[in-house]
Amino acid sequence: MTRKFFVGGNWKMNGNRKALTELVCSINKAKINDQTEVVFGVPAPYLECIRKALDSKFEVAAQNCYKVEKGAFTGEISPAMIKDCGGKWVILGHSERRHVFGECDELIGQKVAHALEAGLGVIACIGEKLDEREGGCTEEVVFAQTKVIAENVKNWEKVVLAYEPVWAIGTGKTATPQQAQEIHEKIRKWLKDHVSEDVSKCCRIIYGGSVTAGTCAELACMGDVDGFLVGGASLKPEFVDIINAKQ
Ligand code: PGA
Repeated sequence: MTRKFFVGGNWKMNGNRKALTELVCSINKAKINDQTEVVFGVPAPYLECIRKALDSKFEVAAQNCYKVEKGAFTGEISPAMIKDCGGKWVILGHSERRHVFGECDELIGQKVAHALEAGLGVIACIGEKLDEREGGCTEEVVFAQTKVIAENVKNWEKVVLAYEPVWAIGTGKTATPQQAQEIHEKIRKWLKDHVSEDVSKCCRIIYGGSVTAGTCAELACMGDVDGFLVGGASLKPEFVDIINAKQ
């Protein structure tokens, strides 16, 4: 059973048309391992222009979406709009959505369900905060988040789970390969026990949190680490090394 290595870049609210287009032009020219699936999480206003600038072997994701197709929801975007701009994926449940914008599990679950029904792939994020880890609650938190996501998934083929410990995001503190592997293995076991053996074997569980060119190779060697979701380093030329981390 092989799970195709998956590397997502999450640009967050960074860059502008010129800088991001230049970045993708250089990535287009780089030598890329064709065994790796690569998706760029683009700020919504640039979805279409980045889709046009990117080589067709790469896909584009939005960083959020709402739970319905259209309507009076000022400021929101729908999966239908993302698809209309050429996006194939959406990142949902990111820790910044959860903890800066107060999105709860229930809303994230509804978004996951609607995005999948609309035909997008979903990068669904989970992860514990520092006090939760220090309080010994990592598994409880991560399993509870995974449960709500799982309840809203009918077809797992288009779901990638991103384990992103909040204490590692944007802090320069990467989880050790052993810490990442330990939780990924437990999430896979949870999938086996609560969804199905097939899903546990096929679902890609990627790691996010201060992944860099320096830390990616060791992480990529872990049996249950099927790729990365990369913030800061996805805006730098070293992102190519991260894409190519899997040997
Ligand atoms: P980081 O962000 O790589 O800058 O820590 C990861 C993420 O938020 O997805």
